[in-house]
Amino acid sequence: MEKLGERALKEIEEATSLAALEEVRLKYLGKKGEVTGLLKTIGSLPKEERPAFGAKVNALREAIEGHLKEKTAFLERKALEERVKRETVDVTLPGNVPQVGSLHPLTKALREIVQIFYGMGFTVYESREAETDEMNFVKLNLAPGHPSRDAQETLYLTETTLLRTHTSPGQIRGMLDMKGKLPVRFIVPGRVYRRDQMDASHSPVFHQVEGLVIDRHITFEHLKGCFLEFARGFFGPETKIRLRPSYFPFTEPSAEIDVSCTICKGKGCPVCGRTGWLELSGAGMVHPNVIRNGGYDPDEVTGFAFGFGLDRAAMLKWGIDDLRVLFENDLRFLRQFEGI
Ligand code: DAH
Repeated sequence: MEKLGERALKEIEEATSLAALEEVRLKYLGKKGEVTGLLKTIGSLPKEERPAFGAKVNALREAIEGHLKEKTAFLERKALEERVKRETVDVTLPGNVPQVGSLHPLTKALREIVQIFYGMGFTVYESREAETDEMNFVKLNLAPGHPSRDAQETLYLTETTLLRTHTSPGQIRGMLDMKGKLPVRFIVPGRVYRRDQMDASHSPVFHQVEGLVIDRHITFEHLKGCFLEFARGFFGPETKIRLRPSYFPFTEPSAEIDVSCTICKGKGCPVCGRTGWLELSGAGMVHPNVIRNGGYDPDEVTGFAFGFGLDRAAMLKWGIDDLRVLFENDLRFLRQFEGI
């Protein structure tokens, strides 16, 4: 009986699961268990031996039951602890943030530009993308035969209508809409179209931002101050600008506006061809014919205008070296603008 007791306790000790423990219980205390078997033998013993034997077996059964209970409690506690550990929530882990997307860099750039010009009293004039030859060229002093009307560059819809090649016809439409009121002060952002093959710096569709100011006593100095304010606001407060003489049929005099290189801050680097300057915009004093075509009297008012590529401005601002990424919708590129 003693050996049986030792064996049972050892097996209880060694049981590592509740299922294994139940097997031990059945082996000793079940209906066909060994201890139960001993109790059944009582009847076959001489009468005087029965009480002592019975007491011994009962003590043995109680000892085994006691150990089983203890071990059961231990294994249950252990199982619970493991489960708690397994199911713990680490509240400090970052959550599953849903992808909400972000504005396209060109949209961001334009919104910034619009804000800067709002600050100087400009409004936004949205002109049409399908234009007449008259508005796109003639009213801007671009006489028939001018090279930029060439079929090489212009996407004609009919004999007399086309996809605008620049936002400058917005100058005429915007002025006509003002019906002679002063001051005229708006920007015209939007898509423009040219017959160009797509490469790192060309696209058949791109974006421009046109600007126009018409009022009494507007001078070249206003153009310079206005553009400097824009350049500093958009590229950073240290930005410088430089005006070089140029030619456009719709301005006189005309200028090309450069901004100090956004990469090397004007020191000279491969991006700016070591000059420290980046070409950004055409500009000039609005030609008297254009003022007249907009319904104003060039003897009474003067004005300045400028036009630059939005895509190019965004590329210079963020150091993007290939125009195509702005149109490909590659999320690996676009996600870099989240939160900017
Ligand atoms: N329209 C010109 C172009 O597409 C850019 C331009 C130059 C616009 C001078 C202007 C300007 O308003 O004054 O190349």
